[in-house]
Amino acid sequence: MAEDQLPSYSHALTAGLVLILLYYVYHELTVGASRRKIVRQNGCRPPVKYPHVDPILGIDLFKINVKALRSNTFLREVRARFATYGNTFQSNLLGSKAIATIEPENIKTMLSLKFKDFGLGERRKTAFVPLLGYGIFTTDGGAWQHSREMLRPNFTRSQVGDLETFERHVSRLIQTIPRDGSTIDLSELFFRLTLDSATEFLFGESTNCLAPGTNTASAARFADAFNYSQHAIGNHFRLGFLSAIVPDAKFKKDAKFVHDFVDSYVKKALEYRRTHDIEKADMKADERYVFLYELAKQTDNPLQIRSELLNILLAGRDTTASLLSNLWFTVAKRPDVWAKLRAEVDELGGQKPSFAQLKDMKYLRYTLNECMFSLQVYPQVPALTYSALRLNPVVPGNSRAAVADTFLPLGGGPDGKSPLFIPKNTTVGYSLYTMHRRKDFYGEDADEFKPERWEKLRPGWEYLPFNGGPRICLGRGLHQIPRT
Ligand code: HEM
Repeated sequence: MAEDQLPSYSHALTAGLVLILLYYVYHELTVGASRRKIVRQNGCRPPVKYPHVDPILGIDLFKINVKALRSNTFLREVRARFATYGNTFQSNLLGSKAIATIEPENIKTMLSLKFKDFGLGERRKTAFVPLLGYGIFTTDGGAWQHSREMLRPNFTRSQVGDLETFERHVSRLIQTIPRDGSTIDLSELFFRLTLDSATEFLFGESTNCLAPGTNTASAARFADAFNYSQHAIGNHFRLGFLSAIVPDAKFKKDAKFVHDFVDSYVKKALEYRRTHDIEKADMKADERYVFLYELAKQTDNPLQIRSELLNILLAGRDTTASLLSNLWFTVAKRPDVWAKLRAEVDELGGQKPSFAQLKDMKYLRYTLNECMFSLQVYPQVPALTYSALRLNPVVPGNSRAAVADTFLPLGGGPDGKSPLFIPKNTTVGYSLYTMHRRKDFYGEDADEFKPERWEKLRPGWEYLPFNGGPRICLGRGLHQIPRT
């Protein structure tokens, strides 16, 4: 019986091999030919490659990255890698090809000139959608464009900046600081501050984490559930497909709580929409500007509103808290910078500044810009709180994935000066932490925290704390102070 079956197995094997061969020939004649054409026509050359011990899955590099993340040395580790392999090099990211670059021209090409050739990549979407749903931060193409068009006008209007609300939350933060000289982790307070102010701005009701006792039990639970879920999606992003084999029941429970909590506000806003003439009435929860009510004027799709709110909460909350943490971490060690900031604040004569006056404070602007150079790895969220935007960019690393065969202007050849072919599905990561410290752009003192450099500095794509191109940060107006 078994012997009778042998010929049919060998026929199946032969047929399988023939099919593979035919597919290979077909692929070479179509995709392969078109790729070789791109390489030939644009003078693309192969990149420098990371010398993997495991060239199949790149587990060696994965292990180094995990270790560096655990010891909070990831950014420095990545910087050292660029110093060794050049401004653009190739590595293996758990079985798929990845390019890493710190060339502004390459980043400009991905984010702007060839915007349509690059997307966010499946890794980010797979990790983020279970918590955030489909919104501005998790979609590409038409869906992203729709989100961006819907959200953008609300950002322009809200840029008037509700300083009074923010002032109230900041006062609470100041009250929380012990007066007996004991040590306090300001960073922890900044994360509570930005959750409190963001939830008030987005939902119309604050989580009030800085004023325990004034908040409801469900708001307190929301704060915990959101913190955990956000941390979890950061891990899912880092682990990629491996996260599917690590069960996380707490994430499922917390994400559900987050959804239900936001849905209760969305329901109220949609009810308001149904019972008021939204064309005539200035639809607000009360006299304040509430993002949710503005969104509910534009759509009555509850899922879409919930997703956009969560996308914005994620985009705006940690970034702002990280910037504040960086700022205070740095300024606390620099009495000279502190004295100059104080002198500028004293010019206000004890009056609260308006939004316009805040934007006019030059030294504050220089200090924030300098801060913008370096901290947390987007979206490798909260645990990594380090330091301010040039030296410590709040979003110190980011990536895109090619959605079509394409090429970048730099990174090919041993010197990295030739164009580099990028096949479809390749991930291209860029380290802002490293780029913002390039001595050829910022001088020999690039590593120094020096707000004064901004008196003359007018960088282009080599300074990118808010990203660039069509997907530039929508919230930057709330932070960015003009450079001139
Ligand atoms: C220091 C503060 C901030 C920094 C450094 C920052 C940085 C960034 C960066 C680098 C991106 C691009 C992400 C990517 O495409 O992969 C981004 C996108 C975005 N940011 Fe910010 N952000 C900050 C604050 C805010 C705030 C306060 C809000 C909202 C209240 C906000 C809303 C957004 C949104 C909606 C996007 C997505 C834009 C799109 O994909 O079209 N950001 N931000």
